[in-house]
Amino acid sequence: MLLTRLLSELGSASIRDGLGVEADPAVRPAQQPEHGDYQLNGLLALGRSLRRPPRELAAAVADRLAGHDPFERVEVAGPGFVNLRLRDAWIAERLGDVLADRARDGVPAVDRPETIVVDFSSPNVAKQMHVGHLRSTILGDAIVRLLRFLGHRVLGDNHLGDWGTQFGLLLAGIKRWGSQVALEGDAVAELERIYRLASEAARADEAFADEARAELARLQSGDPERRAQWQRFVEQTRRTLERVYDRLGVRFDLWLGESSYEAMLPGVVEELLRRGIAREDQGAVCVFVGELPEAPEALRGRKEPFIVRKKDGAFLYSTTDIATVLYRRDTLRADRVLYVVDVRQADHFAQLFATVRAMGVTMRLEHVGFGTILGEDGRPLRTRDGAPVTLEALLDEAVTRAEARLRQAEGLELDPAAIGEVARAVGIGAVKYADLRQHRLTDYRFEWDKLLSFKGNAGPYLQYAYARTRSVFRRGAVDPDTLAGPIVLREPPERALALVLLRFGDVVHAAADGALPHLVAEHLYEVAVALSTFYERCRVLHEDAAVRASRLALLAVASRQLRRGLELLGITAIERM
Ligand code: ARG
Repeated sequence: MLLTRLLSELGSASIRDGLGVEADPAVRPAQQPEHGDYQLNGLLALGRSLRRPPRELAAAVADRLAGHDPFERVEVAGPGFVNLRLRDAWIAERLGDVLADRARDGVPAVDRPETIVVDFSSPNVAKQMHVGHLRSTILGDAIVRLLRFLGHRVLGDNHLGDWGTQFGLLLAGIKRWGSQVALEGDAVAELERIYRLASEAARADEAFADEARAELARLQSGDPERRAQWQRFVEQTRRTLERVYDRLGVRFDLWLGESSYEAMLPGVVEELLRRGIAREDQGAVCVFVGELPEAPEALRGRKEPFIVRKKDGAFLYSTTDIATVLYRRDTLRADRVLYVVDVRQADHFAQLFATVRAMGVTMRLEHVGFGTILGEDGRPLRTRDGAPVTLEALLDEAVTRAEARLRQAEGLELDPAAIGEVARAVGIGAVKYADLRQHRLTDYRFEWDKLLSFKGNAGPYLQYAYARTRSVFRRGAVDPDTLAGPIVLREPPERALALVLLRFGDVVHAAADGALPHLVAEHLYEVAVALSTFYERCRVLHEDAAVRASRLALLAVASRQLRRGLELLGITAIERM
């Protein structure tokens, strides 16, 4: 159930009946418990626009609301708020509905499912996947899970950077420094090494740069030997990537890298020229996005071009991205595309979106940007010798540290045979949660001690909160799937927990709508905190039958919500720890 939606509907109806106007009641959870559970804030704004005292409006609305089933108390407060306190029995009944809804845990599906492409992870061939790609992968996966759970048709697409100038450098570099032996071993590290050498050489040595350009031209004109080499680079990279995705539990529906759109590129540029959206400028083909009527405010009047073909005839990242939009519209029949990409590419996407709008594309396109992961020193995360940290090394370290923590921790119910598996789930879960609990646009510090904590707002704490609910069921020898309550709220911690749990539907919808998984993370943390107060003050198993049945049912909802929430974030719920 969507609690905020229900209260909003009641609020709007009361405004309509009481005041004869349509207005947003602006329902929010109350900040202080003495103000009730929810608050209507909308009458202040309405008072301004109707030029009437807000308290008077609030009184008329409160009058209409008072008779409704959910409310124990409806009060006008402050300059014109309406405070709402829900009836205990009403809360308990609604939570009973959630308990009975095994399939969806009280989260309704959307009314109108859409086809949504989520473009995420998308690393580049021959460059190791490093922490920069971690955020896209983790966030993108959570967004896919959220949208899919709400009933959308979601296509997760790994838009691999498998085409472009780096291949000219690689092909030229392999000739000079490549070793067949190493390529058969850790191919990605070897490709990376060669790429680094080659880009340095190209900067210092004009002849080498020319050679790289010639190699690229041969590859792009279809030379079979170069094609075969390129194919091997891509396959080797893909194998390494898949190993990482497996560890992370991340799957894609599509792997349509940049090279998939190669055949479309000349046509894209022709169409842009024909329709007068692009023009030639010093030999290159450019879209002057700032001149387009479709340009958003921020780009209006800006001078820099969105180049779609270079002077030497080469196509670019921009050209592929335009082709990709057309493919997603015409072939995948998408209603929406989300690009989970570093916020530093915001300009690229603003230019891309304005360009394709000018071509008549109307589907929704959104850049889901994110900030940078920083090291403990507040600077971009690097290894001790200054190289970017690779994702595999980071995950290895997370698992090793998690295992050490698990061995030290007291009060855990750990089966020694399972410790490796638990450590993997805890380590990887901790890395994911550290990322997902942040608003995606913020930069955050990667701090091992905090992110592996069993006490603070961290992955292990939430996994432990879930395992603890399971432990209660085990000790009581109850099957939580057969619990039916009835739930009766007797003590304040029960009521507080129940109210948090009733918000789950709102939270999941808000998270999916805004591509903001941190809302789910925040919610799970609130559940875990409410649970620990509940355990402190309320016994469960050693109570008489009615109390025990009610508390077990409450716990069953909490337990399932933690598991579902973790699953939506792509984090493994642990049954015993
Ligand atoms: N390969 C790019 C990078 O690593 C990201 C691609 C994002 N997706 C896109 N359609 N542009 O920076």
